[in-house]
Amino acid sequence: MTGDDARLLDDGRPFVVLGVSAGIAAYKAVELCRLLVDAGVHVAPVLTERATRFVGRATFDALASEPTQMSVWDEVSPIPHTRLGQRADLIVVAPATADLLARYAAGIADDLLTTTLVATAAPVVVCPAMHTEMWAHPSVQDNLATLRSRGVSVVPPEDGRLAGGDIGSGRMAEPATIAAAVLEMLAAGGAPSPDVIGDLSGVTVLVSAGGTREAIDPVRFITNRSSGKQGHAVADAAARRGATVVLVTTSSQPRPSGALVIEVETAEQMETAMLAKAETADVVIMAAAVADFRPKLAADVKLHKADGIPDLLLEPTNDILAELGRRRRPGQVLVGFAAETDDVRERALAKMQAKQVDLMVANDVSAPEVGFDHDTNAVTIFGADGAVVFVPLAAKYEVANAILDRVLPLIGGART
Ligand code: CTP
Repeated sequence: MTGDDARLLDDGRPFVVLGVSAGIAAYKAVELCRLLVDAGVHVAPVLTERATRFVGRATFDALASEPTQMSVWDEVSPIPHTRLGQRADLIVVAPATADLLARYAAGIADDLLTTTLVATAAPVVVCPAMHTEMWAHPSVQDNLATLRSRGVSVVPPEDGRLAGGDIGSGRMAEPATIAAAVLEMLAAGGAPSPDVIGDLSGVTVLVSAGGTREAIDPVRFITNRSSGKQGHAVADAAARRGATVVLVTTSSQPRPSGALVIEVETAEQMETAMLAKAETADVVIMAAAVADFRPKLAADVKLHKADGIPDLLLEPTNDILAELGRRRRPGQVLVGFAAETDDVRERALAKMQAKQVDLMVANDVSAPEVGFDHDTNAVTIFGADGAVVFVPLAAKYEVANAILDRVLPLIGGART
């Protein structure tokens, strides 16, 4: 079967090949299969031989739209990998092991699944699942970068409990997350959603988040209302879009999977980390609420009431964003935030000018459901090029993607 008639089944249902390789997360592929079939997708399962050590083909036979296939020798005619590859509207590989990714990236076609992957022009989504150390290994990340550069979409793994009881990054995304990405891509005619698009692949994004804490004594500090939610959402969204992410944070919000997280407390510690990491970053996003003043002298021991009310002498902190602007590498994209309660536009534009940033993300934190500690935000993104984008009230993750959408065209030559 070739041409247009190969793209859709007679009944109009999209045809999805579900590839399953040999990882413990194979059991989650059963649920993924069921979710896709329930959503009206024709699911053709293809298991590797070793995947059946984790889950039996009979399970998929019972749930999928057609019998499970495992071998290029299963069917005499038509040739199975060609049939599957040509007929597929989309191929999703879940779980994709380190071994599967390596073989696919190298173009090795030594079983039905890899042969089908090499024989298809359909969009492909891979869902990596492996132990944290394997996920962090350069060979795995290089193979993923290669696949992304060829248009393969990635639903990245999440943090959580792994086989053997360890906690870490590498656990396959939940079946519902993968199913949603697949259905979104099918609805968009194969175009990946921002989550799986990998459009920041090869880009290093440095993000700061949270309010700094400036010590008065060992038990007291001065801080602000920032929760770190927006900064963590930016880091999370950037990682899901394929960026290498470094997050410098004071916040205990969930850590984005796959990001290098540097925990800091004070403005001074944040400055040290940001200036060091900015040397190799393509994009720097200063979402943190940095204290403008800190106690001139923090007491070494707890101050007691009986000693009387202390005179709190304050001194200014350094402006990290302004320093990043001065030290900016050629081609580096610099993004600042401005949380305001009045004259939002004027103040944001003045800060953009003073700190020499490409984009200033301004929000009116006095508006309901906006800014500090809320799960939602509404921002206006001012560009040094004069462009202004208003992002109405939305989840902080959506706002994060809107900011990254504005960053993307500015990256230009920064991609490494
Ligand atoms: N910022 C920074 N270092 C500081 C203060 C602020 O890097 N010491 C950064 C923030 O992370 C933000 C931007 O500068 O990206 C604007 O911060 P904001 O607090 O709105 O402005 P300030 O310059 O501190 O001015 P003001 O507090 O007077 O509004």
